[in-house]
Amino acid sequence: MTTDPYAAAEKAAEQLRSLTGVDFYDVALVMGSGWAPAADAFGSGGAEVPTSELSGFVPPAVEGHSGSVRSLRSGDRDLLVFLGRTHLYEGHGAQAVAHGVRTAVAAGASTVVLTNAAGSLNPAFGVGSPVLIADHINLTGRSPLQGATFVDLTETYSAKLRGLAKEIDPALAEGVYAAMPGPHFETPAEIRMLRAMGADLVGMSTALEAIAAREAGADVLGLSLVTNVAAGLSGQPLDHEEVLATGRDAATDVGALLASLVERLEPA
Ligand code: 6GU
Repeated sequence: MTTDPYAAAEKAAEQLRSLTGVDFYDVALVMGSGWAPAADAFGSGGAEVPTSELSGFVPPAVEGHSGSVRSLRSGDRDLLVFLGRTHLYEGHGAQAVAHGVRTAVAAGASTVVLTNAAGSLNPAFGVGSPVLIADHINLTGRSPLQGATFVDLTETYSAKLRGLAKEIDPALAEGVYAAMPGPHFETPAEIRMLRAMGADLVGMSTALEAIAAREAGADVLGLSLVTNVAAGLSGQPLDHEEVLATGRDAATDVGALLASLVERLEPA
C-alpha cells in the first residue's frame, strides 16, 4: 500500500458506512483461520460486504479465509466481523496487514477482538483449547507503524477484557503468543527457542494488528484456538487442514464465548 494508511482506512470506513447504512460501529472481531463458523454465534441477517468492494484490501490468498466483513447488530451494539484477514506472508506488507483493524477503528470500533489459530508450545494447552493472549513476542521483524511513533505496548491485550472473558469461562487460560512471519511452520529447534523465550503459543498473525489497534486507541482482546501442537512436540507433522478442522470442531463453543463477551462489554 503506497498511500497514507490512515487515509486509506478512512476511505474504506466511509465505503463501509455507505454500503451497510451503519454510521458507527462499536466492536470489531477478526476471525482467524478456522474461526469463520464461530461468527454464526452472532446471528445472521446483517449485510456482508466482500473486502474486494472496499478500498485498500488485498484479495485473500488462503483457503479458509473468505475475505468479507459482516455488519451485525447484537443487543444494542453494531459489530463488524471480518471473515478472514491479510497475513504478512501474503507479501503485501505490514500496512496491508493492519488495514482491516484501522478501517474498523476508523468506523468507530473501540474494542477489537483478534482471534487466530495457533500452535501450542505449552503442554497445558491441548488441541481445541481457547487461550487468551496475555502478551505477544513480535518476531515478524515488522511493525505497522512508521516514523517516530512510539506507541506504549505495556498492556497490548486489555487486562480488563481478559478479566471479562474469564468471568464467562473461569477455566480460560492465558498465554504469550509468538508471532512469526511464516508461511512455513517452525522447525523443532525454533520451537525450543520460542519456549525458552517464554512463548506458549505460536502463529502468523495478530501481533501487527494488535499494535495498529493500540496505536489507534482501541482496546484489544486476543484469543487463540490451539489447532495443533508445535513442531517436534508431538511427533506428528503439521498441516493446514488440521488447523481448519479443529476450528470447525470448536466453533460452537468459542462462538458462544465471543457472543457472551460482546454482550458484557460496557456501552460505548
Ligand atoms: Cl505450529 N506455527 C505457526 N507459525 N503458525 C501456526 C502453527 C504453528 N499452528 C497454527 N498456526
